[in-house]
Amino acid sequence: MSELRSIVRGVGGYLPERVMTNDEMSKIVDTSDEWIQQRTGIKQRHIAAEGELTSDLAVAAARKALDAAGLGIEGIDLVIVATTTPDMTFPATAAIVQQKLGMHHGAAFDLQAVCSGFVYAVATADSQLKNGLGKRALVIGAETSSRILDWTDRTTCVLFGDGAGAMVLELAEKDAEDRGILASSLRSDGHHWNKLYTDGGPSSTMSIGHIRMEGKEVFKHAVGNITDVVRDVFEKTGTTVDDLDWFVPHQANKRIIDGAGVKLGIPPEKVVLTVDRHANTSAASVPLALSVAVEDGRIKKGDLVMLEAMGGGFTWGASLIRW
Ligand code: UT7
Repeated sequence: MSELRSIVRGVGGYLPERVMTNDEMSKIVDTSDEWIQQRTGIKQRHIAAEGELTSDLAVAAARKALDAAGLGIEGIDLVIVATTTPDMTFPATAAIVQQKLGMHHGAAFDLQAVCSGFVYAVATADSQLKNGLGKRALVIGAETSSRILDWTDRTTCVLFGDGAGAMVLELAEKDAEDRGILASSLRSDGHHWNKLYTDGGPSSTMSIGHIRMEGKEVFKHAVGNITDVVRDVFEKTGTTVDDLDWFVPHQANKRIIDGAGVKLGIPPEKVVLTVDRHANTSAASVPLALSVAVEDGRIKKGDLVMLEAMGGGFTWGASLIRW
């Protein structure tokens, strides 16, 4: 029997116009450019304009991904939006994205795995396509995290930014180059939910709440969790770190990325870094980093690319793609 693969047809990213520097941040809370850069590698972040919604960011990124794929919306059967900051409690932001893209057909839903959302969505789309749910999926990570920040809490508000990234996946027969998603690994451990969460929600407080985080605790788990899933994907595919062309990690903190890179033996020149310019855009960070590295010509057809992320839940995951 022939084997099927979900191939990447195109990616695209979108960042809101407004850039907020660390110096600006130091006028809001007791912090400094030096502290933020030293502890996180972040220099600036983008902040959505008033009235600019997660769905607007998602649509802008989706249009770029569709253009890159050379496809119109009529070619898409499934829309998944990974987000922690939906426009509304319901309907799914994916449904609003569908409407804004002028799409009446197919299926659309949101996926909530916080910062790991995009990796979860890629793995979900891959299995949905392979199970006959459609031929092409539009997978989006989009966030307006600035709306759920406590702008008086310096331990969290300096870390996050807004943005969106999108990917078009297409089901195809496995070819000689073996392009497409080769394997994914997803994990979660809900015992850690209260280390990174919002102190509110529809069912608990009837409000949205703000991001709360025990940063040190998250940091402690991050490197180990990331390396576990990345190694699992290497093992599943019979590949090693030497085969890898690009490592595209979740962009939460440069120290976490460096730590994982060292532990896995990935040379820094193979790591795509955007945390300095984008900060932590949660579910958008991986597709945004991908879109940057594809647009500047680093990631090319045939390259072996490892995506990974870790976030609230805890959730974590990795996906290996032959571009
Ligand atoms: O995407 C989801 C995953 N999230 C993450 O991966 C985040 C993981 N955690 C981290 O990235 C780091 O733990 C942080 C960047 C959040 C914090 O770095 P840290 O090296 O763990 O610092 P810390 O929390 O131990 O704080 C050190 C000091 C404290 O002061 P004292 O108690 O030593 O006097 C903090 O109060 O830095 C202080 N501090 C700040 N100072 C200036 C905390 N935030 C700030 C700030 N500016 N923004």
